[in-house]
Amino acid sequence: MKIFSNILDMQNYTLTLKRQGKRIGLVPTMGFLHEGHLSLVHEAAKHADIVILSIFVNPTQFGPNEDFDKYPRDFERDRKLCEDNGVDAIFAPEVADMYFKDCSTYINENKLSAGLCGARRPGHFQGVCTVVAKLFNAVLPDIAVFGQKDAQQALVLRRMVRDLNFPVKMLIAPIVRESDGLAMSSRNKYLTEEQRRNALAISRTLFKAENELKAGRKDFDAIAGEISATISASGGRVDYVEILDADTLELPNETPRGLLVAVAAYYGATRLIDNIIITVDGQE
Ligand code: PAF
Repeated sequence: MKIFSNILDMQNYTLTLKRQGKRIGLVPTMGFLHEGHLSLVHEAAKHADIVILSIFVNPTQFGPNEDFDKYPRDFERDRKLCEDNGVDAIFAPEVADMYFKDCSTYINENKLSAGLCGARRPGHFQGVCTVVAKLFNAVLPDIAVFGQKDAQQALVLRRMVRDLNFPVKMLIAPIVRESDGLAMSSRNKYLTEEQRRNALAISRTLFKAENELKAGRKDFDAIAGEISATISASGGRVDYVEILDADTLELPNETPRGLLVAVAAYYGATRLIDNIIITVDGQE
């Protein structure tokens, strides 16, 4: 397995492989890998000859009071997991390799990023779009795989790829959950045992809402209110609970193609997000 930190070396590696007709798959991550990330690696391997995983804790997507400095990092553990899971190369640049000191060009998506996490984390999606565009330019992938857990991120990045004509096929892989339902996240590491137990209220109440929506319940505000109440009763501090059109992130009209039920809540200082998508024919 190759490891690159330099952008030119990374580009030369992929350009050589592309000339040999190889299809390149990219799994962008911020490291501290878990089963969720590895499911993205396995998905990429189904669609590409070469799988490259990037590890970069991107400073521009963290707000000033967020957890950039204490975001969990363990390169050696990540390296081993990549090797064991058939990753061909890791791209792990330093911040100074990715951002010029006087960098003054950023990418903004202005519609899908307006609500949910975008409204609560100013600048977050500008940072995400900019770094993903830079990762695409460094790795030159044919396909890229993102997780459904970051539902808004997936939609925003798909829109960026469409609007800016990136020649990259976007694949979105399902959420991977612990056996008790908790959505996998690098940030779960911050939770105490008690907070982790309490946080199960999120997936429990989402699954209940999923059943009710599939059964035809349409009082979305009431459902969102019940989800909030369940999370608050478990000791969580709700940031948002919203039921939206899964394609547009607007309030659902009479006949949405799909519904997104999106939740963000704090347990202690840890902000967790989770969601479910219900399509009109009831298939997830
Ligand atoms: O989802 C993440 O881990 C990050 O937002 C991403 C896409 C790697 C960009 O830094």
